[in-house]
Amino acid sequence: MRKDSPKIIHKVAELQKFALNARAKGKSIGLVPTMGALHDGHISLVLRSAKDNDICIVSIFVNPIQFGKNEDFDKYPRRLKIDAELCGAAGASVIFAPSASDMYPVPIQTLVRNFELEGLYCGAYRTGHFSGVLSVVAKLFNISLPKIAYFGEKDYQQLFLIKKMVFDLNFPVKIVGMPTIREKSGLARSSRNEYMTAEEREQAAAIYAGLKAARQKFENGTVSCAELKKIVKKYIENAGGKIQYVEIAKDSDLLSIKSAKITEPSVILVACFFGKTRLIDHIIIAD
Ligand code: PAF
Repeated sequence: MRKDSPKIIHKVAELQKFALNARAKGKSIGLVPTMGALHDGHISLVLRSAKDNDICIVSIFVNPIQFGKNEDFDKYPRRLKIDAELCGAAGASVIFAPSASDMYPVPIQTLVRNFELEGLYCGAYRTGHFSGVLSVVAKLFNISLPKIAYFGEKDYQQLFLIKKMVFDLNFPVKIVGMPTIREKSGLARSSRNEYMTAEEREQAAAIYAGLKAARQKFENGTVSCAELKKIVKKYIENAGGKIQYVEIAKDSDLLSIKSAKITEPSVILVACFFGKTRLIDHIIIAD
Protein backbone atom coordinates (compact mmCIF):
# COMPACT_ATOMS: atom_id res chain seq x y z
CA MET A 1 0.00 0.00 0.00
CA ARG A 2 1.42 3.41 -0.98
CA LYS A 3 1.67 6.20 1.59
CA ASP A 4 3.15 9.07 -0.42
CA SER A 5 1.22 12.05 -1.81
CA PRO A 6 -1.49 11.09 -4.25
CA LYS A 7 -1.55 12.60 -7.73
CA ILE A 8 -4.30 15.20 -8.00
CA ILE A 9 -6.17 15.19 -11.30
CA HIS A 10 -8.73 17.89 -12.04
CA LYS A 11 -9.67 17.13 -15.62
CA VAL A 12 -12.18 14.49 -16.69
CA ALA A 13 -10.27 13.72 -19.91
CA GLU A 14 -6.97 13.30 -18.02
CA LEU A 15 -8.41 10.86 -15.50
CA GLN A 16 -10.16 8.85 -18.20
CA LYS A 17 -6.89 8.58 -20.15
CA PHE A 18 -5.03 7.57 -16.97
CA ALA A 19 -7.67 4.91 -16.20
CA LEU A 20 -7.71 3.53 -19.75
CA ASN A 21 -3.91 3.20 -19.69
CA ALA A 22 -3.94 1.54 -16.29
CA ARG A 23 -6.63 -0.95 -17.31
CA ALA A 24 -4.76 -1.69 -20.57
CA LYS A 25 -1.73 -2.58 -18.45
CA GLY A 26 -3.89 -4.99 -16.44
CA LYS A 27 -3.99 -2.83 -13.30
CA SER A 28 -7.07 -3.01 -11.11
CA ILE A 29 -8.68 0.27 -10.08
CA GLY A 30 -10.65 0.81 -6.90
CA LEU A 31 -12.85 3.92 -6.75
CA VAL A 32 -14.04 5.71 -3.61
CA PRO A 33 -16.58 8.35 -4.67
CA THR A 34 -16.88 11.15 -2.09
CA MET A 35 -17.89 14.77 -1.75
CA GLY A 36 -14.86 15.49 0.43
CA ALA A 37 -14.75 16.74 4.05
CA LEU A 38 -13.44 13.27 4.72
CA HIS A 39 -13.87 11.51 8.06
CA ASP A 40 -13.04 8.06 9.43
CA GLY A 41 -15.94 6.54 7.50
CA HIS A 42 -14.46 7.62 4.17
CA ILE A 43 -10.96 6.66 5.27
CA SER A 44 -12.11 3.10 6.02
CA LEU A 45 -13.22 2.91 2.35
CA VAL A 46 -9.90 4.29 1.08
CA LEU A 47 -7.91 1.83 3.21
CA ARG A 48 -9.94 -1.07 1.88
CA SER A 49 -9.76 0.12 -1.73
CA ALA A 50 -5.97 0.59 -1.50
CA LYS A 51 -5.62 -2.89 -0.04
CA ASP A 52 -7.77 -4.56 -2.71
CA ASN A 53 -6.51 -2.79 -5.85
CA ASP A 54 -3.35 -1.77 -7.71
CA ILE A 55 -4.66 1.79 -7.97
CA CYS A 56 -7.00 3.56 -5.56
CA ILE A 57 -8.79 6.62 -6.94
CA VAL A 58 -10.73 8.88 -4.55
CA SER A 59 -13.10 11.30 -6.25
CA ILE A 60 -13.86 14.51 -4.38
CA PHE A 61 -16.72 16.36 -6.01
CA VAL A 62 -19.60 18.23 -4.40
CA ASN A 63 -22.13 17.25 -7.02
CA PRO A 64 -24.52 20.14 -7.69
CA ILE A 65 -27.22 18.04 -9.34
CA GLN A 66 -27.93 16.02 -6.19
CA PHE A 67 -28.71 19.09 -4.06
CA GLY A 68 -32.15 20.70 -3.91
CA LYS A 69 -32.62 24.47 -4.14
CA ASN A 70 -32.82 25.00 -0.38
CA GLU A 71 -30.16 22.49 0.57
CA ASP A 72 -26.58 22.96 1.75
CA PHE A 73 -24.66 22.91 -1.57
CA ASP A 74 -22.97 26.27 -0.93
CA LYS A 75 -22.11 25.59 2.68
CA TYR A 76 -20.98 21.96 2.16
CA PRO A 77 -17.43 21.84 3.59
CA ARG A 78 -14.66 21.92 0.99
CA ARG A 79 -11.00 21.31 1.97
CA LEU A 80 -9.13 19.56 -0.81
CA LYS A 81 -5.63 19.93 0.64
CA ILE A 82 -6.44 18.26 3.97
CA ASP A 83 -8.55 15.59 2.25
CA ALA A 84 -5.72 14.79 -0.18
CA GLU A 85 -3.29 14.35 2.73
CA LEU A 86 -5.69 12.02 4.53
CA CYS A 87 -6.21 9.98 1.37
CA GLY A 88 -2.47 9.77 0.75
CA ALA A 89 -1.88 8.49 4.27
CA ALA A 90 -4.57 5.85 3.70
CA GLY A 91 -2.95 4.62 0.49
CA ALA A 92 -4.82 6.45 -2.29
CA SER A 93 -2.87 6.85 -5.53
CA VAL A 94 -5.03 9.46 -7.25
CA ILE A 95 -7.45 12.17 -6.16
CA PHE A 96 -9.94 13.18 -8.81
CA ALA A 97 -11.22 16.67 -8.02
CA PRO A 98 -13.01 18.02 -11.07
CA SER A 99 -14.76 21.37 -11.34
CA ALA A 100 -18.52 21.44 -11.86
CA SER A 101 -17.96 23.00 -15.28
CA ASP A 102 -15.72 20.13 -16.31
CA MET A 103 -18.19 17.50 -15.08
CA TYR A 104 -21.15 19.37 -16.56
CA PRO A 105 -19.82 21.57 -19.42
CA VAL A 106 -23.42 21.98 -20.59
CA PRO A 107 -26.56 21.19 -18.60
CA ILE A 108 -26.99 17.43 -18.28
CA GLN A 109 -29.96 16.04 -20.22
CA THR A 110 -29.45 12.34 -19.56
CA LEU A 111 -30.16 11.10 -16.06
CA VAL A 112 -30.19 7.69 -14.39
CA ARG A 113 -33.38 7.18 -12.39
CA ASN A 114 -34.87 4.44 -10.25
CA PHE A 115 -38.57 4.99 -10.72
CA GLU A 116 -39.60 2.61 -7.94
CA LEU A 117 -37.42 3.84 -5.09
CA GLU A 118 -36.35 7.41 -5.89
CA GLY A 119 -39.46 8.91 -4.29
CA LEU A 120 -39.34 6.91 -1.06
CA TYR A 121 -37.75 7.72 2.31
CA CYS A 122 -35.07 10.40 1.71
CA GLY A 123 -36.29 10.74 -1.86
CA ALA A 124 -39.72 11.87 -0.65
CA TYR A 125 -38.09 14.95 0.91
CA ARG A 126 -35.25 15.49 -1.57
CA THR A 127 -36.79 15.63 -5.04
CA GLY A 128 -34.25 14.74 -7.71
CA HIS A 129 -31.58 13.81 -5.17
CA PHE A 130 -31.20 10.17 -6.12
CA SER A 131 -31.21 10.76 -9.86
CA GLY A 132 -28.43 13.28 -9.20
CA VAL A 133 -26.49 10.69 -7.21
CA LEU A 134 -26.99 7.84 -9.67
CA SER A 135 -26.11 10.01 -12.64
CA VAL A 136 -22.86 11.30 -11.14
CA VAL A 137 -21.88 7.83 -9.96
CA ALA A 138 -22.50 6.50 -13.49
CA LYS A 139 -20.30 9.30 -14.86
CA LEU A 140 -17.59 8.58 -12.28
CA PHE A 141 -17.63 4.89 -13.24
CA ASN A 142 -17.24 5.77 -16.93
CA ILE A 143 -14.44 8.24 -16.20
CA SER A 144 -12.39 6.19 -13.72
CA LEU A 145 -13.18 2.65 -14.94
CA PRO A 146 -13.06 0.93 -11.55
CA LYS A 147 -13.16 -2.80 -11.04
CA ILE A 148 -14.55 -2.20 -7.54
CA ALA A 149 -16.24 0.86 -6.03
CA TYR A 150 -16.65 1.43 -2.30
CA PHE A 151 -19.54 3.16 -0.52
CA GLY A 152 -20.55 3.57 3.11
CA GLU A 153 -23.56 1.65 4.38
CA LYS A 154 -24.55 4.74 6.30
CA ASP A 155 -26.32 6.08 3.21
CA TYR A 156 -28.32 2.90 3.05
CA GLN A 157 -30.87 3.91 0.42
CA GLN A 158 -28.11 5.40 -1.74
CA LEU A 159 -26.06 2.20 -1.55
CA PHE A 160 -29.12 0.11 -2.40
CA LEU A 161 -29.91 2.28 -5.43
CA ILE A 162 -26.31 2.17 -6.66
CA LYS A 163 -26.25 -1.63 -6.44
CA LYS A 164 -29.56 -1.75 -8.33
CA MET A 165 -28.25 0.63 -11.02
CA VAL A 166 -25.15 -1.54 -11.49
CA PHE A 167 -27.33 -4.64 -11.77
CA ASP A 168 -29.98 -3.12 -14.05
CA LEU A 169 -27.51 -1.43 -16.40
CA ASN A 170 -24.78 -4.12 -16.33
CA PHE A 171 -21.95 -1.88 -15.17
CA PRO A 172 -18.82 -4.09 -14.93
CA VAL A 173 -18.16 -2.79 -11.41
CA LYS A 174 -18.36 -4.64 -8.11
CA ILE A 175 -19.96 -2.58 -5.36
CA VAL A 176 -18.61 -2.99 -1.84
CA GLY A 177 -20.61 -1.53 1.03
CA MET A 178 -18.65 -0.84 4.21
CA PRO A 179 -20.02 -0.64 7.77
CA THR A 180 -21.02 2.71 9.24
CA ILE A 181 -18.29 4.23 11.40
CA ARG A 182 -19.68 5.79 14.58
CA GLU A 183 -18.53 8.27 17.16
CA LYS A 184 -18.11 6.91 20.71
CA SER A 185 -21.65 8.09 21.45
CA GLY A 186 -23.02 5.97 18.61
CA LEU A 187 -23.67 8.94 16.30
CA ALA A 188 -22.91 7.90 12.70
CA ARG A 189 -19.91 9.74 11.27
CA SER A 190 -21.01 12.21 8.60
CA SER A 191 -19.47 15.27 6.98
CA ARG A 192 -22.59 17.13 8.11
CA ASN A 193 -21.93 16.42 11.82
CA GLU A 194 -19.66 19.45 11.86
CA TYR A 195 -22.65 21.73 11.26
CA MET A 196 -23.88 20.87 14.77
CA THR A 197 -23.04 22.51 18.08
CA ALA A 198 -21.36 20.29 20.69
CA GLU A 199 -24.70 20.04 22.51
CA GLU A 200 -26.64 19.02 19.39
CA ARG A 201 -23.98 16.45 18.59
CA GLU A 202 -24.40 14.93 22.04
CA GLN A 203 -28.20 14.93 21.71
CA ALA A 204 -28.00 13.33 18.26
CA ALA A 205 -26.58 10.17 19.86
CA ALA A 206 -30.25 9.43 20.60
CA ILE A 207 -30.77 8.42 16.96
CA TYR A 208 -28.68 5.28 17.20
CA ALA A 209 -29.73 4.66 20.79
CA GLY A 210 -33.37 4.67 19.58
CA LEU A 211 -32.59 2.36 16.67
CA LYS A 212 -30.77 -0.06 18.98
CA ALA A 213 -33.64 0.03 21.48
CA ALA A 214 -36.09 -0.80 18.67
CA ARG A 215 -33.90 -3.67 17.49
CA GLN A 216 -33.71 -4.98 21.04
CA LYS A 217 -37.50 -4.82 21.34
CA PHE A 218 -37.78 -6.72 18.04
CA GLU A 219 -35.35 -9.34 19.30
CA ASN A 220 -37.49 -9.66 22.42
CA GLY A 221 -40.49 -10.49 20.24
CA THR A 222 -42.17 -7.22 19.22
CA VAL A 223 -42.93 -7.39 15.48
CA SER A 224 -45.37 -4.48 15.23
CA CYS A 225 -44.00 -1.80 12.88
CA ALA A 226 -45.94 0.91 14.70
CA GLU A 227 -44.46 -0.09 18.07
CA LEU A 228 -40.91 -0.18 16.77
CA LYS A 229 -41.23 3.16 14.98
CA LYS A 230 -42.69 4.69 18.15
CA ILE A 231 -39.58 3.73 20.11
CA VAL A 232 -37.22 5.40 17.63
CA LYS A 233 -39.38 8.55 17.50
CA LYS A 234 -39.56 8.75 21.29
CA TYR A 235 -35.78 8.58 21.75
CA ILE A 236 -35.16 11.26 19.13
CA GLU A 237 -37.92 13.61 20.25
CA ASN A 238 -36.98 13.25 23.94
CA ALA A 239 -33.45 14.36 23.01
CA GLY A 240 -34.77 17.46 21.23
CA GLY A 241 -34.63 16.13 17.65
CA LYS A 242 -37.30 16.69 15.01
CA ILE A 243 -38.35 13.63 13.02
CA GLN A 244 -38.55 13.85 9.24
CA TYR A 245 -39.45 10.18 8.82
CA VAL A 246 -39.08 6.82 10.49
CA GLU A 247 -39.92 3.98 8.11
CA ILE A 248 -39.45 0.24 8.04
CA ALA A 249 -38.59 -1.38 4.71
CA LYS A 250 -37.95 -4.91 3.56
CA ASP A 251 -34.21 -5.42 3.31
CA SER A 252 -34.61 -7.48 0.12
CA ASP A 253 -36.11 -4.72 -2.07
CA LEU A 254 -36.27 -1.66 0.17
CA LEU A 255 -40.01 -1.35 -0.39
CA SER A 256 -42.20 -0.45 2.59
CA ILE A 257 -43.69 -3.24 4.61
CA LYS A 258 -47.34 -3.38 3.67
CA SER A 259 -48.51 -5.45 6.65
CA ALA A 260 -48.40 -4.06 10.17
CA LYS A 261 -45.93 -6.73 11.23
CA ILE A 262 -42.35 -7.58 10.38
CA THR A 263 -42.14 -11.02 8.81
CA GLU A 264 -38.79 -10.87 7.01
CA PRO A 265 -35.37 -9.20 7.40
CA SER A 266 -36.02 -5.48 7.41
CA VAL A 267 -34.36 -2.14 7.94
CA ILE A 268 -35.52 0.79 10.04
CA LEU A 269 -34.64 4.02 8.23
CA VAL A 270 -34.68 7.39 9.91
CA ALA A 271 -34.10 11.03 8.97
CA CYS A 272 -34.34 13.79 11.55
CA PHE A 273 -33.04 17.20 12.45
CA PHE A 274 -30.93 18.29 15.40
CA GLY A 275 -30.93 22.04 15.17
CA LYS A 276 -30.75 22.76 11.46
CA THR A 277 -28.71 19.67 10.65
CA ARG A 278 -30.42 16.85 8.83
CA LEU A 279 -29.11 13.42 9.83
CA ILE A 280 -29.89 9.92 8.59
CA ASP A 281 -29.28 6.50 10.06
CA HIS A 282 -30.64 2.96 9.92
CA ILE A 283 -30.49 -0.43 11.56
CA ILE A 284 -31.10 -3.91 10.18
CA ILE A 285 -33.55 -6.06 12.06
CA ALA A 286 -33.53 -9.76 11.29
CA ASP A 287 -33.92 -12.97 13.28
O1 PAF B 1 -22.30 9.78 -0.66
C1 PAF B 1 -21.77 10.74 -1.25
O2 PAF B 1 -20.82 11.35 -0.78
C2 PAF B 1 -22.32 11.15 -2.61
O3 PAF B 1 -23.70 11.02 -2.66
C3 PAF B 1 -21.65 10.44 -3.79
C4 PAF B 1 -21.91 8.95 -3.78
C5 PAF B 1 -20.15 10.69 -3.76
C6 PAF B 1 -22.19 11.00 -5.11
O4 PAF B 1 -21.97 12.37 -5.23
